[in-house]
Amino acid sequence: MTENPSESHPPGPIMSRRETLQATAGAVALAALPPLSAAATSAPALDTNPVTLTITVNGRAQALSVDPRQSILDVLRETLNLTGTKKGCNQGACGACTILVDGRRIVSCLTLASMHDGAEIETIEGLEKNGVLHPLQEAFVEHEGLQCGFCTPGQIMSGLGCIAEGHTGSPEEIQFWMSGNICRCGAYPGIVAAVADAAGRT
Ligand code: FES
Ligand code: FES
Repeated sequence: MTENPSESHPPGPIMSRRETLQATAGAVALAALPPLSAAATSAPALDTNPVTLTITVNGRAQALSVDPRQSILDVLRETLNLTGTKKGCNQGACGACTILVDGRRIVSCLTLASMHDGAEIETIEGLEKNGVLHPLQEAFVEHEGLQCGFCTPGQIMSGLGCIAEGHTGSPEEIQFWMSGNICRCGAYPGIVAAVADAAGRT
């Protein structure tokens, strides 16, 4: 059954007004506390020893040794040279870094690579097969779902998740479930049309 957009959060770290007010109240309360003693503020030393893991990226197994502080986004871009996944805000707010992990869409800037040993990862580079675009990529071209293209890999990966989740019953439903992906060019009408079109084709 399709979820009612008024009852659920869209994907991504979007806070409700209530949560925003609660978070703000918490920050105000913290600001009112006396300063912590030196002993209380000394943090335990970070373990920065490399972590070994094996992940499958676009169907190809990758045995890696990563810094435990590295996000999966940085491993994709800097270690595997898969720069199609974009780094926009690097803090979970824009959706440009969206990938699929075990079939679920996530913002890759907010999760550590070391947490994904054994995971199946799909990025924008894995969609085209033998020179043929994925139907959703074709739909983005046909419906002009992009201008500068910076947000587009994240929009397309999020669109795949949106379709797989069955959140394509209406343009409004697609808008809601794609709202974690920001487009600074404002190509939203084409993006929504492309997701709706591809949902009908796949
Ligand atoms: S770069 Fe990850 S959400 Fe913006
Ligand atoms: S096409 Fe430029 S940010 Fe979306």
